[in-house]
Amino acid sequence: MKFGYFDDRNREYVITEPETPLPWINYLGCQAYFGIISNTAGGYSFYRDARLRRLTRYRYNNVPPDLGGRYIYLRDDESKEFWSPSWLPTRHKLKDYSCRHGMGYTVIGSTYSGIEAHTRYFVPLDENLEIWQLTVTNHRTTRASLSGFASIEFCLWDAQDDATNFQRNLNIGQVEVDDGVIYHKTEYRERRNHFAWFASSQPGAGFETQREVFLGRNRGWDKPAAVEAGQLTNSIAHGWSPVGVHQVKLELEPGETRQIVFALGYHENPVDQKFDPAGSQIINKRTVKPVIAKYLDPVQADAAFERLRLYWDGLLSVFQVNTPDIHTNRMVNIWNAYQCMATFNMSRSASSFESGIGRGLGFRDSNQDLLGFVHMAPARARERILDLAATQLATGGAYHQYQPLTKRGNNDIGSGFNDDPHWLIVGVSAYLKETGDWSILDEPVPYDNEPGSEQPLYQHLRRSFNYTLARLGPHGLPLIGRADWNDCLNLNCFSDTPGQSFQTTTNKDGKVAESVFIAGLFVYAGRELAAIAKHRGLTEEAQVYLDEIARMEAVIHEHGWDGEWFLRAYDDFGNKIGSKDCEEGKIFIESNGFCALAGIGLEDGRAESALNSVGEHLATENGIVLQQPAYSRYYLNLGEISSYPPGYKENAGIFCHVNPWVMIGETRLGRGDRAHDYYSRINPSARENISDLHRCEPYVYSQMIAGKDAPTFGEAKNSWLTGTAAWNYYAIAQWILGVRTSIDGLRIAPVIPKSWPGFTAMRTFRGAVYRIVIERKGEGNQIALTVDGTPIEGNVVPAPTDGRKEISVHGVLS
Ligand code: BGC
Ligand code: NOJ
Repeated sequence: MKFGYFDDRNREYVITEPETPLPWINYLGCQAYFGIISNTAGGYSFYRDARLRRLTRYRYNNVPPDLGGRYIYLRDDESKEFWSPSWLPTRHKLKDYSCRHGMGYTVIGSTYSGIEAHTRYFVPLDENLEIWQLTVTNHRTTRASLSGFASIEFCLWDAQDDATNFQRNLNIGQVEVDDGVIYHKTEYRERRNHFAWFASSQPGAGFETQREVFLGRNRGWDKPAAVEAGQLTNSIAHGWSPVGVHQVKLELEPGETRQIVFALGYHENPVDQKFDPAGSQIINKRTVKPVIAKYLDPVQADAAFERLRLYWDGLLSVFQVNTPDIHTNRMVNIWNAYQCMATFNMSRSASSFESGIGRGLGFRDSNQDLLGFVHMAPARARERILDLAATQLATGGAYHQYQPLTKRGNNDIGSGFNDDPHWLIVGVSAYLKETGDWSILDEPVPYDNEPGSEQPLYQHLRRSFNYTLARLGPHGLPLIGRADWNDCLNLNCFSDTPGQSFQTTTNKDGKVAESVFIAGLFVYAGRELAAIAKHRGLTEEAQVYLDEIARMEAVIHEHGWDGEWFLRAYDDFGNKIGSKDCEEGKIFIESNGFCALAGIGLEDGRAESALNSVGEHLATENGIVLQQPAYSRYYLNLGEISSYPPGYKENAGIFCHVNPWVMIGETRLGRGDRAHDYYSRINPSARENISDLHRCEPYVYSQMIAGKDAPTFGEAKNSWLTGTAAWNYYAIAQWILGVRTSIDGLRIAPVIPKSWPGFTAMRTFRGAVYRIVIERKGEGNQIALTVDGTPIEGNVVPAPTDGRKEISVHGVLS
């Protein structure tokens, strides 16, 4: 069952049924001002940091789940009936309801009682504000006398505090209304120099700023008393809960259409110019007023929308493909790329499943996200890399997370996740291969943001590599620390106290438990580092890395191989995890996927055997589960992984983030059919027809799909903000379609299904556009390349040195 359809031409997903299984959201904003918006106009906005600068209020885990948002009400002033064109909050039976989620914008609308209304929501580029363009058309045969109401509820900035500290917060709310614009200025009187504003292109009919006056006592957003009464009262909030509501009057002749622009924004004043007149308590509005005036003008709003459209055209055009599979095309060309930008912008902070409070930017997460967006936004990738590296510790380890606003490591989450440092090498390498910008390695970057500790970025990479060498366990495998990629494999935790954090509790000294996954990652990242060193002319250093890698590979073969697959780890007692000898958790995806991806065991058949075992024991029609058998009870020596009921999350859920490791491994074995089959099993577009089972948005990946041990097998959770976005993009783009960046140029090495006659692609790379045509003449993966009509040796097309801007690449697979 479906709840909408893809409109690929317009790069939109069109939801036609408001009651989707879960709120299906989109993101507004792509630079500093952001919002999430659901298909029924729920959601909230923030400036830079979803926790520390929350503009509007949203109640997570609410009943019903999605209440609070950018709500518009229309009221027929003759019949006194009122409704919301976005279905929520009033839940009227609407005609032609649709929600079009597009690239950085959402349009929601419907027709009710002959009145058609659509609102287009978006954030203009380079501005800290959002625009709601409401278009209302009277399809009746008679004149319509309507009121429109646009409403938001302000959050008192710090979302955590706002949701908990009522003894203070119900006293601090302050607003100003000036010239029809509502200004939210809670705490502006003291240490804040920022405020929010909410404006209407057609003020005058009334406003409301005190929530209780607007909603009425004991009422919710479904039946605001002031809307029912038909007239706002111009209330001024003192404490309690400030809201922003504007009323507009609409007298529409039959067939007449009117557009109203509402805008909500964030603004900062210089600390010494907060008030006007100076010495008063009135907000200085000199610099904000021109901005407000500009965007209330529908012509300017349209122009801003057009700029946004061009911005997304530009980003997405960097890589476009045309394959025989519509789901591949749609995800690569539109939605997966779009999701990669969302994970870059948000990391794991704000979605329907991430409250914007708990998690900042993850070190490991953000480095992996680079794989998916570096080609679209290389300059921002550069900045992100330098920020991330500045939270690396002098030991080479890293803060696991940092706050985007302060860019400081988050002490509450701590460090000691022993895979973290290597992801910096992976991220930097992806950047270098994309851009060829080697200067980044010489950028001075501090450790732990400590002034004076700056060293060239390259030195950070060395420390990352050495971090593991200094932390090897009894078998010579890397010590796992708090956990590795699998945050829930907490082998030093031994927690028996309810509520204790698995992420920060350590009850063992951590000198025994080892990770085969980190060993695989060490080999993979180490090879990247060796290539970087070699390119810098550091041949001897490169050789040292290669020697260490060879040693680690030998250790993996000796102590990390279980006969048919790679082990996962050794616990604190030196017992195997992920072995046929285990009662539960006999085989895991991470070590097998990653070792194969890293090319370990390619020559001696172990990689093949490992992936065959994954296929046999872990693959399901809904994707590959994380391990089998699922843990049926809590194991003190394993930690959070066994805290989940079987089939969910890390306990044998289908973790979509790691499935691509297997896909890439399959391409390394030359098995394109299997690789693409695995790709399709979790491709959200390919699952659209089972939206009633999948339940999350069909246009973006979810972190997890319930595994076969769960009663809800096939149900997705945690959509949007997941490493799944980048890894699936990377797997399909660079390994299955095989358009792969390398230090020396663009490698063309497709490993596609046998049944495909070929595909075409367009890739902008280091300033030139590559038009790629791949033709299948035989069933294998052998490629013969012709570049601008001339056959070349090998499969790397070097970046042009003669200023050519267009390169045509023809590849024949045999
Ligand atoms: C989840 C992990 C997540 C971790 C981060 C755990 O509860 O299962 O997937 O990475 O929390 O805080
Ligand atoms: C989600 C985290 O964001 C990611 O870093 C981690 O690797 C996975 N969970 C697996 O635990």
